[in-house]
Amino acid sequence: MCGIVGVVNHEDAARCILEGLQRLEYRGYDSAGIAIVGAQGKVSIARAEGKLSNLTGKLADAPLAGSTGVGHTRWATHGAPTEGNAHPHRAGRVSLVHNGIIENYKALRAELSAAGRSFASETDTEVVAQLLDRYLETGLDPRSAWLETLGRLEGAFALAAIIEGEDGLLLGARRGAPLVAATSETSGFLASDIMAITGEARTVIYLEDGDTVFVRPEGIEICAPSGEPVARPVNPAPASMAMAEKGNHRHFMQKEIYEQPEVVGRTLSAYVDAEAGRIRPVEGIDFAGMSRLLVVGCGTASYAGLIAEYWFEAMAGLPVDNDIASEFRYRDPAFLPGDAALFISQSGETADTLEALRLCKAAGLKTIALVNTPHSSMAREADVVVPTLAGPEVGVASTKAFTCQLAALASLAVLAASQRGKLSPEAVEAEVASLMAIPAQMNAALAIEQEIDQLATELAHASIVLYLGRNVFFPLALEGALKLKEISYIHAEGYAAGELKHGPIALIEDDVAVVAIAPHDALFAKTRSSIQEVRARGARVIAITDKAGADELDSEASAILKLPDVKGLAAPIVAATAVQLLAYYVAVHKGTDVDQPRNLAKSVTVE
Ligand code: F6R
Repeated sequence: MCGIVGVVNHEDAARCILEGLQRLEYRGYDSAGIAIVGAQGKVSIARAEGKLSNLTGKLADAPLAGSTGVGHTRWATHGAPTEGNAHPHRAGRVSLVHNGIIENYKALRAELSAAGRSFASETDTEVVAQLLDRYLETGLDPRSAWLETLGRLEGAFALAAIIEGEDGLLLGARRGAPLVAATSETSGFLASDIMAITGEARTVIYLEDGDTVFVRPEGIEICAPSGEPVARPVNPAPASMAMAEKGNHRHFMQKEIYEQPEVVGRTLSAYVDAEAGRIRPVEGIDFAGMSRLLVVGCGTASYAGLIAEYWFEAMAGLPVDNDIASEFRYRDPAFLPGDAALFISQSGETADTLEALRLCKAAGLKTIALVNTPHSSMAREADVVVPTLAGPEVGVASTKAFTCQLAALASLAVLAASQRGKLSPEAVEAEVASLMAIPAQMNAALAIEQEIDQLATELAHASIVLYLGRNVFFPLALEGALKLKEISYIHAEGYAAGELKHGPIALIEDDVAVVAIAPHDALFAKTRSSIQEVRARGARVIAITDKAGADELDSEASAILKLPDVKGLAAPIVAATAVQLLAYYVAVHKGTDVDQPRNLAKSVTVE
């Protein structure tokens, strides 16, 4: 969360930083700001509450000229999302931007206040700026002052700073939050994500945890916390990434929902050898020798993992332990010989998932990262990378990344079943054929958009929506509820349909809405009983089902969304489109900010 961009020796630092921030807005959009070293080395700052467009407007009226600067787009941690708390924070000669949390900021603030320093904001960030300025005041040169400052900080963070009178110097540090350093023929850069400076940068260095960095027009110096120089590989920067466009769609989320047949197809093609009727082996993964697979992720990614648990256990007889990363990393998990660990993440940067990965790696487990971002920290640190090919996901609510995760996981489940001798070559061939049919089935499912739009008009007035499902549709119920609450702000919960009687049914009364995901599978009759129970108590039931299910539920559900008849691995992937569209249209009818819902950020790099 929070995006950082810094540049030295650029013909128009403010423009370069603003463009970078635009590409980083997915990391937070509570406020934004920019600081530029201008004429005679003087620093000027512009900051604005709310989205980046507010800052852009301010800068159009009062441009900042200079060749060195830093910028920030904020997701608030300490202090309300006001202009006063927006970054950059200034203390004396120092202007600084920060992503992460300084855990010992209270003690440092008390120490600095006692030394006579007064604070302009409530943030932990300002403490760092004050500390650096104090070290500069004692006569230390910028390099030594920066190393001293960093030595005093506890927490997980990335930082970038400029100093008045020091045109052509950018200070940076990576301690647990992402940061890259980059160069072009003339300029040097720091950024939370290489995406911010593609098009500008020619080479990139993916900084490692603990790296301290000094960017100057002559080049990039990297050192350890002790000040000892360290060498890092210099990579070619990715070629310019076009900014994603909405095209004819009203929101990125809608566009991304509609992209799914294509990107799921692309992801499947990376794993499935359709001609040979098999799944390509993945180098470094041997499912036959695995005794257990630990699956870890957060939010939507963790629900993809939960669905995969059903698949791996039922098809491949591979025991799976699923956990959300924030719990896993702090519960002293016990490991068994033959354990491997799979981490699922769209961004590849989620702090809790990354730490869980590091924990497993330190314990000697094989670590596998299922990520959508090829240069992410998880992709670089895991033993094996299994990519999803969803392309950049802009909407904060994950859609296409989720179904691509499912497509990759379904392929891996078939591979595991085949490597563990649970599926004959003929059975694998049949699974491959059904996997390859998914894109067309998703297209057919998306055709019910108008019915969903109509239903959503009514659902937009609900105060509580419960999602029910069994087996793989239970995690999909969790995902449906998450999607609805995050973009429409309606209270929604997902339950295993069988759990209803153990508590949640007490919530049911007239006008509570229930979304039951109930395709006509082996457990249909059981989910149908749950539908009858909630109907009898006054709930309005929307059933997401298929033709056979629709025939049977005709008189029992208040409304039916009919999906194509799809069985097996494909079923939850295809049904995901309906829960996504339902949440999307409810949010549209409520008039919320669909692509950038309140309080959220796309990449959660703080725990
Ligand atoms: C919900 C959503 C989040 C993410 C979660 C993990 O729509 O997007 O729940 O799934 O923050 O993010 P990644 O996948 O980047 O690790």
